[in-house]
Formats: sequence, C-alpha cells, structure tokens
Amino acid sequence: MNLILGIETSCDETGAALYSITQQKILAHSLFSQIALHKQYGGVVPEIASRSQLEKIDVIVQHVLDQAGLSMGDVDAIAVTSKPGLAGSLLVGTCFAKGLAWAYNKKIIAIDHLEGHVFSSFLAADGSLNQAVPFPHVCLTASGGHTSVYHVNGFGDYQTLGSTIDDAAGEAFDKIAKVLGYGYPGGQIIEELAGEADFIDYLNYPRTKNPNGDVFFSFSGLKTAVLYSLVKKGVYDLETGPVKQAMTPQLAREVASSLLVCIADIFSNNIACVLKKQPGIKAVTFVGGVACNRYIQKRLQQLCDKKRVQLFVAPRSFCTDNGAMIAFVGGYKTEQRQFSDSTFDIMK
Ligand code: KG4
Ligand code: ZN
Repeated sequence: MNLILGIETSCDETGAALYSITQQKILAHSLFSQIALHKQYGGVVPEIASRSQLEKIDVIVQHVLDQAGLSMGDVDAIAVTSKPGLAGSLLVGTCFAKGLAWAYNKKIIAIDHLEGHVFSSFLAADGSLNQAVPFPHVCLTASGGHTSVYHVNGFGDYQTLGSTIDDAAGEAFDKIAKVLGYGYPGGQIIEELAGEADFIDYLNYPRTKNPNGDVFFSFSGLKTAVLYSLVKKGVYDLETGPVKQAMTPQLAREVASSLLVCIADIFSNNIACVLKKQPGIKAVTFVGGVACNRYIQKRLQQLCDKKRVQLFVAPRSFCTDNGAMIAFVGGYKTEQRQFSDSTFDIMK
C-alpha cells in the first residue's frame, strides 16, 4: 500500500491530490476554486457549488494522475472528505470516490475535513513532509466555516479544546467586507485595507473573554457590533447597504484594521490560555483559510516567541481547502489500516 488519491469537495473547491507513503510526499495536486462563480452573490450558493463540483471532479482527478504520470491502476486507496460541509458538494465527492473504488477495486477511507486541516501543517509548500512539527501541539483551525482549537497528540489522535459557538472567524471577515462594500471572500480584502491603516486599533470592538481560562470563540456578536456601529455613524443602511458618500475609504480602512486587530487579539488570548493550562505543549500550528493572514501569523509568532514554543503555519496553498491534506490523512490512516466500509454516509 503506497499511493493514496485524496478527494476534497466539501464546499466550493474541487481538490484532488496523490500522496506517496513511501516517499512521504504529495506527488501532484490540483484545485478548482469556485470563487468567481459565487462572487456576485456575496457568498457560497449551495446549489451552484454542487453543480460545479459535478462538472469538475473527473477533470481534477484526471489532472493529478496526468501530472504524476500515473493511472488509477497505480492507486492503492482513495481518501475522500465525508464531513462536515455542504451536503450536495460532499455527495459529489463521496459518490465519485465510491464509484472509482468499486470500479478499480480500491480501498476507500472517509475523512473528516477538519482532520485534514489539523494535519495540513505537516505539508511543506513543495508537498514534502514537514518532519519538524512535534507532538503534542495545539492547532488553531480558522476558516470560513470553522474556528476551533485542538490538542494534537499524534497522527489521527486529537481532541477539540473548544470551537466557536456561532460564526467562524472567516465568516466575520467575509461579512464585514461585504458591509464595507467590498467583494467576496473578504479575508484578504480586510487584510489589505488594514495594512493601509497600519494595523491600528481605531475603534476598539468588543473582545470575548475566556471563562475559567478555557478556549472560547464567538464572532456573531462582533459582526453585529461592527454593523451597528456603522449604522449609528450613518454610513450603513440596514435596508439598502453601504451609504456611498458617507462610507469613505479611510473609514473602511479603520474598520478593517480594528476588526483584524480584534480577531488577532481573540486568537492570541485563546492560545495563551491553552499554553498556560497545558505546559507540555511543544508547538502551535495555524491552519485553514484565515491562516493565510500575515498579520495574524505575526501576532501568533510574537506570542509563541514569548512562550518559547514553535509556530508552524500551513503553506498558503494548503491553508484553504485542498485535496493534499485529505490525501495525507488518507496516508496515515492507510498505515493504521483504518479503511471505511463502502456504505459510509456523508455527515456521519
Ligand atoms: O479554508 P477555507 O478555504 O474554506 C473553509 O473551509 O471555510 O477558508 C476560507 C476563508 C474565507 O472566509 C476567507 O475570507 C478566509 O478564509 N481568508 C482569509 C484570508 N484569506 C482567506 N481570512 C483572513 N485573511 C486572509 N488573508
Ligand atoms: Zn476547510
């Protein structure tokens, strides 16, 4: 057992990759991002997402096989995201993977998308294995759909220390970018605007506390606080959106900058709480789409330097959803002989 085909279709990206267990390397990976399809709606439209998955899945899988100069006959097992995500999108990937597994008589492994993110820090940008990441470590996963902290003991051995009770951090960036009159997805736009305002905290939005020093995330209140402060200033109308003349570029920069500093503070406080409570932690990993944010990376690096633990950030191409992290998790599950029954269901 050596070659794993990974398939990721949980939301609005169609991803595939090939991971070689013996070479400890991603041999090929390919991704189709649907951002352009959803942009005009200001967010992901589930029906459009699943339709696009259906159009792209065979092309993307064939693309990774071609890139590596291999064929389905060379593949030993197929790893596919089975949860969590949009039902229609997940169904496309899992049904395709089951069909391939049946037709070519391959093993199949159902993968939790979040486990993919958690272990994406082990992938270097060139697809080789980053052996330096130690156990136990703590993983901050922040994306458009999830914000969680995990205690990670080994491959496949991890516990959730806390997750957002409502919205994800990425969702807050996306929503506020929209409120400011900018496009989707909002994370990178907010980072650029914040940089133009020197990452200064102009507006001091409310920070959530950490009761008993435990992990705690909630971004829904923050979103509302930003929105209503703009309504109060008369620059946003709840019915018609941003008020063109009043919403100046400088105000947008100040809001973006204050929001980013606030979220970086919330992340730092949560990680500081974990490091305080669990002195054996050797490193922090930062993964998921929001981990692309260089300002937050810098803030976490400052914290980790102070606490004398290492920080590992997943490479940019493996921060956002991708097939490589799924193939990699499929690799160690194959070594652990953790295959799935072909009747597995999505979301279970
Ligand atoms: O991991 P991902 O591709 O999809 C989910 O699993 O949700 O993450 C997408 C999220 C979006 O909310 C996007 O705004 C955010 O990641 N994001 C960023 C940055 N780049 C992407 N957030 C903050 N700063 C960035 N530079
Ligand atoms: Zn994700």
